[in-house]
Amino acid sequence: MRVLLAAATLTALSPAVAPRAFGMSGVAGDPSAPAVADPLKAPADFAGITDPAVRSVALFTEALRVIQHPRCINCHPSTRTPTQGDDRHTHVPYFQAKDIHGLPGLTCHTCHQADNVTTLGAAIQSVPGNPHWALAPASMAWQGLTPGEICRQLKDPDRNGGRDLAAIRRHVETDSLVGWAWSPGPGRKPAPGTQEQFVKLVAAWIETGAACPSESSPASAGLVTEGRRKEMEASPGAIQARNKAIVEAKFAAWKDGTGSPFDLLTDDATWTIVGQSLVSKAYTKDAFLSEVIRPFNARMRDPLRPTVRSLHADGDAVVIFFDAKGVARDGQPYVNTYAWFFEMRDGRVIRAFAFFDSIVFNDLWKRVAPAPAAGD
Ligand code: HEC
Ligand code: HEC
Repeated sequence: MRVLLAAATLTALSPAVAPRAFGMSGVAGDPSAPAVADPLKAPADFAGITDPAVRSVALFTEALRVIQHPRCINCHPSTRTPTQGDDRHTHVPYFQAKDIHGLPGLTCHTCHQADNVTTLGAAIQSVPGNPHWALAPASMAWQGLTPGEICRQLKDPDRNGGRDLAAIRRHVETDSLVGWAWSPGPGRKPAPGTQEQFVKLVAAWIETGAACPSESSPASAGLVTEGRRKEMEASPGAIQARNKAIVEAKFAAWKDGTGSPFDLLTDDATWTIVGQSLVSKAYTKDAFLSEVIRPFNARMRDPLRPTVRSLHADGDAVVIFFDAKGVARDGQPYVNTYAWFFEMRDGRVIRAFAFFDSIVFNDLWKRVAPAPAAGD
């Protein structure tokens, strides 16, 4: 809704800036080119500052308007989870990337294609894309850093991917992920100015000695601090949405055979099977896996796969209503319907209650002998 309004306002106020939203870039100083909505200053604008070090810091501070812009910083987050939108909310679906490509079975390219893809939706008008879409490595995280810290990190070959200043300049001039920030797809504001203006600022900053702001300078430009991020993540709505996304992702992984909701159990989690089935009782995590899950899987020829009917989140609780199907070792299908009630903390399951048809379950448990475990 907010995105739509913003787009409508832009069009109404200044038809000349509307094409910016579709990635056409204006050229500074050319009156016939479409005006840039949020131009950057040119190096010449800083010529009045005679002390080169002071000028250098001023140039970097102007370049920070791009570096700290959501289009850049969403991919250079403080945790291993990218952020989204101009409010830099935690990426939905939530995940913690194992490397710059995400997770095995859930890489960026599962959803981010080689180019921006326009959707038919109103809230999310496009899914951003690029052939190299990936998360900036942890050493290149910028969120939560002061301008001076970002500056020193950018210059530090131990943290910037072994680059000297010339390579940093080349990166901002030629890297296609950097370029994407000025063609981010419908529904997303581009970074300020043009990439060309940004490169000129970075080049001028390097030519003036690449000086960095001192630590006492105020953390500027609406940077999301660690405290603010925690606060945003701690709001009940955010926790609920995150819990839901986490469980949804695990069910999707279970269906694809790349993961399991049991991965979410904390070491001291409890799992209670309600009712009168042969396995109904309260378990610790280890007991549940060794007394129920492994012996169950050892009775199956084709593993159990879920189809979710509905998934609800309410604060710390997530309820999953699903069917699951597999084929037992004797060739007979196993089909059951489940309701699981999860209690979540910090994105993990600390308590679970499970309901299912115990007659169907007992029949399998008694009829089929488990296959001997490998190594037994
Ligand atoms: C889709 C995610 C993504 C976006 C968007 C993105 N980056 Fe990056 N950035 C990366 C990745 C991944 C690397 C590491 C690539 C490498 O080392 O070759 C990186 C590395 C860099 C580096 C090199 C070294 C360092 O110290 O950080 C710079 C500079 C940089 N990005 C600037 C930007 C700027 C400026 C923008 C916005 C105009 C931006 N990036 C947008 C993912 C992104
Ligand atoms: C399961 C699908 C999915 C996966 C996997 C995924 N993304 Fe996304 N991502 C999306 C969608 C959909 C959007 C658009 C949402 C929006 O604009 O609100 C998005 C938006 C983003 C944005 C926000 C761009 C902006 O400035 O608003 C960034 C950054 C991002 N993803 C980075 C990544 C990275 C890096 C990876 C891999 C490590 C990744 N995503 C994996 C679905 C995914």
